[in-house]
Amino acid sequence: MATLPDTLISYAVEACEDAAIAASRMVGRGDEKAADQAAVDAMRKAFNRQDMDGLIVIGEGERDEAPMLYIGEKVGTGKGPRVDIALDPLEGTTITAKAMANALAVVAMAPEGGMLQAPDTYMDKIAIGPGYDDGIIDLDASAAENVEALARAKGVSPHEITACVLDRPRHAEIIASLRKVGARVLMIGDGDVAGVIHTAEPETGIDIYIGQGGAPEGVLACAALKCVGGQFQGRLVFRNDDERARAERLGITDYARKYSLNDLVRTDAVFAATGVTKGAMLGGVSVRGGMVSTHTLVMDSSTRTIRRIHMTRPA
Ligand code: FBP
Repeated sequence: MATLPDTLISYAVEACEDAAIAASRMVGRGDEKAADQAAVDAMRKAFNRQDMDGLIVIGEGERDEAPMLYIGEKVGTGKGPRVDIALDPLEGTTITAKAMANALAVVAMAPEGGMLQAPDTYMDKIAIGPGYDDGIIDLDASAAENVEALARAKGVSPHEITACVLDRPRHAEIIASLRKVGARVLMIGDGDVAGVIHTAEPETGIDIYIGQGGAPEGVLACAALKCVGGQFQGRLVFRNDDERARAERLGITDYARKYSLNDLVRTDAVFAATGVTKGAMLGGVSVRGGMVSTHTLVMDSSTRTIRRIHMTRPA
């Protein structure tokens, strides 16, 4: 399959920067929808001035429920390379509305057909960072068994392992299993794209991510892990027939399939994320003296290049 031209890296960065700046105006205003809308509008505007033939494969939802950046929407001038785009203009709408840490604007790009078109359902996920033999983690094993296997591979006690889990009642069993084996549990309120990526960032102290979150966020996180290394397994979770029908419309027929990182992101990919609010991974948007500043992480799996961009421009 084709690789992506370098220009797409700057397209992804600009789209994330613009979305983050727009969303930052809504930080702490208690209005999740308005914050999301601001990010969506700005990201779409940024994409549409760029020379590419972009197709949204993971977006704000299906056409009838998302006025913009819906799955199947074409973006760009139509003149440049064909590219599939996965996006979450505001990953952490609640975080933004409440002015809490770790909200991001996120984009992943891959050549046509490079990423799974994940339906807007939940996904069971497990992830670890790079440097381990394949097959250390298994979605079908208990949280405790996964921690024990990872601890053995690291040559430490399970007490030395930190697991990141979304703070949700549905994770009670996972958390109990982690505590039983003595692991540390770092709970996050929202934002499991960052939660998964943290497993590949030693400075966060997070060794493993476990739990159920959005399926689109699972694919976005895998685009990032593809660039930095790491292992991931995910399985779609369906709550009703409507969700199964959504998956079927996207070509998914094996509902119980356990996806690996390379099943979710099949080709090389570019991943970009800009901080909206300050977090463990990125600084947030700041405005001072008429200038606006952003922090963006951009990665390219084809060259294994990771860039951190601190942008400042007139507000
Ligand atoms: P939003 O940006 O839609 O608020 O999603 C935030 C998030 O925490 C994701 O990171 C995660 O995958 C998902 O929500 C979990 O869903 P839920 O809040 O329903 O448990």
